[in-house]
Amino acid sequence: MKTTQSISRRKFLMFSGAATALIATDLIGLGRQVFAADAAIPTLTSVTPAATFTLPALPYAQDALTPYISANTISFHYGKHHAGYVTNLNNLVKGTKYAKGTLEKIIKLTYNQFLLSSIYNNAAQTWNHTFYWNSLKPNSGDKSLVPGKLSALINAQFGHFSDATKDDKGAWTNPGLKQKLFDAAKGHFGSGWAWLVLNKQNQLEIMTTKNADSPLTKAGYVPLLVIDVWEHAYYLDYQNGRVGYLNAVLDNIINWQFAEDNLPATLKV
Ligand SMILES: [Fe+2]
Repeated sequence: MKTTQSISRRKFLMFSGAATALIATDLIGLGRQVFAADAAIPTLTSVTPAATFTLPALPYAQDALTPYISANTISFHYGKHHAGYVTNLNNLVKGTKYAKGTLEKIIKLTYNQFLLSSIYNNAAQTWNHTFYWNSLKPNSGDKSLVPGKLSALINAQFGHFSDATKDDKGAWTNPGLKQKLFDAAKGHFGSGWAWLVLNKQNQLEIMTTKNADSPLTKAGYVPLLVIDVWEHAYYLDYQNGRVGYLNAVLDNIINWQFAEDNLPATLKV
């Protein structure tokens, strides 16, 4: 699937189901280096020593997103939540046909099947979180949106990237893509994810999904970027203040280059 190709091409990570196959690669060394210095965070090998699926390394140090997302949040979000999904998934697929599948294949095969919902949820959350870590980057935000295919698509479909001007009632007067993504993430009820995707008509779409759901279950959709809006993503830093978290992410650490890189190489704009 395109997503897999995109991700692999950019050394994002490797979702292969075969034994301990983490091929993310140039990130692995960084991750080991980071975690070796922090006994509170399990190392890659100690999380799931004989695992089918392995917790991918973070693409940056766990304190790299401060002050917008603290090292404490990352330590729980990555070291407990994300790691927990990986561990759960390995336990659930052990001895089943899913033990040898890719994450993407498992997600598609188990989607909307009640008896397989535990496998689906943990596989999807494993995938979503890895995608989320790569959707963030220190010192990025607006600063990393450079002229290219993504900016051309944004300008063609949304008119402009960002205009944060508000009227006297506090509503955006001329919202761009950034404000619309913010509004979608802010307005999502409960736990879930806010995505920028490319649909099968090669148009950008902003969408939200509930719980573990992702665009991977929608044929022809290519995930470009995601923001985790589960409370565990921001509660330690912002308590219930999702707006503060979203402003911090979108202004300072969202990785637009990752979204640009996930566009199909063959896409004509
Ligand atoms: Fe999360």
